Amino acid sequence: MNGSEPSEVETNSVEETRALGERLGRQLNRGDVVALMGDLGSGKTSLIQGICRGLGVKGVVNSPSYTIVNEYAGRCSVYHLDFYRLHGRDDLLSLGYEEYFYGDGICLIEWAERAADLLPAQRVEVHLIRGRGTRRTIAIRRMGENEGSGSGDGHSSGLSKPGG
Ligand SMILES: Nc1ncnc2c1ncn2[C@@H]1O[C@H](COP(=O)(O)OP(=O)(O)O)[C@@H](O)[C@H]1O
Ligand SMILES: [Mg+2]
Repeated sequence: MNGSEPSEVETNSVEETRALGERLGRQLNRGDVVALMGDLGSGKTSLIQGICRGLGVKGVVNSPSYTIVNEYAGRCSVYHLDFYRLHGRDDLLSLGYEEYFYGDGICLIEWAERAADLLPAQRVEVHLIRGRGTRRTIAIRRMGENEGSGSGDGHSSGLSKPGG
């Protein structure tokens, strides 16, 4: 089996979305990459604010509009990336994206679909869909677990990393 069944949740306020994020944040581990995909106003930043709360980040969490990446200190390093203004692969290369994708911290990416072909196979993918009013549908799925382990022992720690 590759990945897990998606869990789909509906929220009806920004605080509900943050609370969902907080629960997700508590379950994340060092090295996890969370790829958030959804339109403007779908709640990516709000969910990340909750995730950061669940990771013990104190202080303000906002989209890194000009810098592409914000770094916070939680129970480990947290990298908040936003690819909205990304102009192609060169921007990602000069950012040094591999440090974030394959590093020791936790990497949270808004507009991850803009780097779809570079995302790590092992990731938590979150799709946010804006409904009527304050309704948001949020689907969370862990992808790429056990990929490449072959024998299926489920404990393979040597997951292959592109270019690694
Ligand atoms: N259920 C909800 N979840 C998240 N945000 C909501 C919700 N309902 C209304 N909103 C509003 O939608 C906007 C979401 O903004 P934001 O989290 O910055 O989205 P994004 O980062 O995807 O552009 C905020 O203005 C927020 O107050
Ligand atoms: Mg945002």
